[in-house]
Amino acid sequence: MELIKLEETASTNTYASAHASELAPWSVVITDCQTGGRGQRGNSWESEEGKNLTLSMIIKPEGFRARDQFAISEAVALAVVDLLYDNGIDARVKWPNDIYVGDRKIAGILIEHSVLGMDISHSVAGIGLNVNQTEFLSDAPNPVSMAGLKGREFDRATLVKELGERLEHYCGLAFEPVGRDYLHSFFKTLLWRGDGKFHTFKIPDGPRFEAKIAEVEEGGMLVLEERDGNRSKYAFKEIIFELDAKDEGQEEGNDNIAPPKGV
Ligand code: BTN
Repeated sequence: MELIKLEETASTNTYASAHASELAPWSVVITDCQTGGRGQRGNSWESEEGKNLTLSMIIKPEGFRARDQFAISEAVALAVVDLLYDNGIDARVKWPNDIYVGDRKIAGILIEHSVLGMDISHSVAGIGLNVNQTEFLSDAPNPVSMAGLKGREFDRATLVKELGERLEHYCGLAFEPVGRDYLHSFFKTLLWRGDGKFHTFKIPDGPRFEAKIAEVEEGGMLVLEERDGNRSKYAFKEIIFELDAKDEGQEEGNDNIAPPKGV
């Protein structure tokens, strides 16, 4: 794994995408000072300078069909969950690829694919992992860090190495059909709210309803089942997870009003 360390950059994803042709496969672009970190749905990504991991890995699969791209998303999420597990933190994947510990977000993932014909020519997997930051100023919903959970600081250089190894391992599995099957099964066992119980969901600008996660399809669609047995499929951005009624009905979707810190 080649490490490209930048003093400061707007976004490691933007840098890695702009330099994709020169970067060797599995190169990691990293900075301690990301001034315009990008999140999903056009959100920004807050990270205090020198406290966390903000990095992007360049993935260059060969002959990898764009229709299989969700496997890369699963692989990156599993790499982060695996890293956290080995550091004593039991995290889950909030579909499609937010990393949560309980009801709090510890890491965000932004994957950008470059497609040529039917294949992916390269992907940039951007990861923001909250490591040693303990106060969060933005209105991000319920952030938490490794230090916040464990009450001690973590060595970020060690984490970068451990994360890089896991990313190579899990993304390598995504390149083969058997590996993809394994990733998909494993992914489904680690789903946040994948407990078979009913939870509250909301359609953007639409109704709230209770449903359980019935399935995540290989292509990444989320299948929800309502109490009457009715099933519906959702793509990313078509559905919002909400805190359940017992949690006072507060919003927690990425692009919703942020609940008070510590909910
Ligand atoms: C999210 O909205 O949850 C995704 C956040 C992804 C943030 C990371 S930080 C490193 C990389 N560079 C970016 O600009 N974004 C990703």
